[in-house]
Amino acid sequence: MRLPGRVTICEVGTRDGFQIEPEFIPTERKIEVVDRLSEAGVARVEVTSFVHPKAVPQLRDAEAVMAAIRRRPGTRYAALVPNDKGAARAVDAGVDVIHTVVSASESHNLANVNMTIAESLDRLRAVAQIAARAGVPVQCGVSCSFGCPFEGDVPVARLESVVARLVDLGARGIGLADTTGMANPRQVSDVLERLMPRFPGIEWTLHTHDTRAMAIPNILAAMEHGVTNFDASIGGLGGCPFAPGASGNVCTEDLVHCLHAMGIETGIDLERLLGTSRRVQEIVGHVLPGQIVKAGPFTRKYPLPEAVAARVRR
Ligand code: COA
Ligand code: ZN
Repeated sequence: MRLPGRVTICEVGTRDGFQIEPEFIPTERKIEVVDRLSEAGVARVEVTSFVHPKAVPQLRDAEAVMAAIRRRPGTRYAALVPNDKGAARAVDAGVDVIHTVVSASESHNLANVNMTIAESLDRLRAVAQIAARAGVPVQCGVSCSFGCPFEGDVPVARLESVVARLVDLGARGIGLADTTGMANPRQVSDVLERLMPRFPGIEWTLHTHDTRAMAIPNILAAMEHGVTNFDASIGGLGGCPFAPGASGNVCTEDLVHCLHAMGIETGIDLERLLGTSRRVQEIVGHVLPGQIVKAGPFTRKYPLPEAVAARVRR
């Protein structure tokens, strides 16, 4: 396999994850989780989103969270914004990076942000201007890059035209999001093979959901193309409130465990990450999909049953 030596993970659990939790997570708990993640060595955190509080009530405390997190040198703190109003709020709150969102599916974009793709792209031009004035880089995510829960297939030509518009707006990074876990590894490979040579110099990120257990295989396929940036959420939290059937992102600690097992560095302390995942389970009050928290890492050993041990000794 052609694998990179190092991968950068962007933790999105406090945004993509917490946005869909049924109970409001107190602001102090959100801050605690962000701080624990950065202490575990996570280099990028999508802390929250600056969206309409009625659209996503869970994240109505975005300003308060951004104001109180302990900024660890070496961690980049981002937030998701859908429009210029969100960008202005994010800049005022002191984000290091703005993550924007537009969908490659017309129906999903309307459901998510109440705009056509063309209207979204217009608003994202205004976002780019606000960001440029503030000296804040912009990374543009494209929802439903590999399929839409309303429309089904999303033609790769449509994805490509949305990416081209975002690159024209000045995006340095493009995130391809598999919002409802429809992508398969061959498709990820085909899409990257087509897009990457057409947009040289772009930093690509793959944003996966493990809805159909294809997230890590998809990440492997992307790594084979040289992609080294992946979004993940602690415990496997997550889902999009405006995309039916969406479930959690690829689980951060499961992905880190897999990468470390293959000798790929992440800069993240897996033990601390597992501790954070357990804490997040306490905070949300339900079991999360992450598997390593339950199974332990592959290095875990169990005591041999006494009867078997006696035979081994003989
Ligand atoms: N933050 C806070 N308020 C916002 C806002 C933002 N980013 N964007 C718009 N508003 C306010 C406007 O100021 C306006 O307020 P007013 O009625 O007091 O004048 C009101 O919302 C309506 O503005 P409009 O531009 O017509 O927004 P809308 O009602 O069409 O909603 C979005 C558009 C994008 C703001 C809304 O759909 C949204 O926040 N979606 C978030 C989706 C999301 O987070 N999805 C999950 C992640 S992918
Ligand atoms: Zn997502």
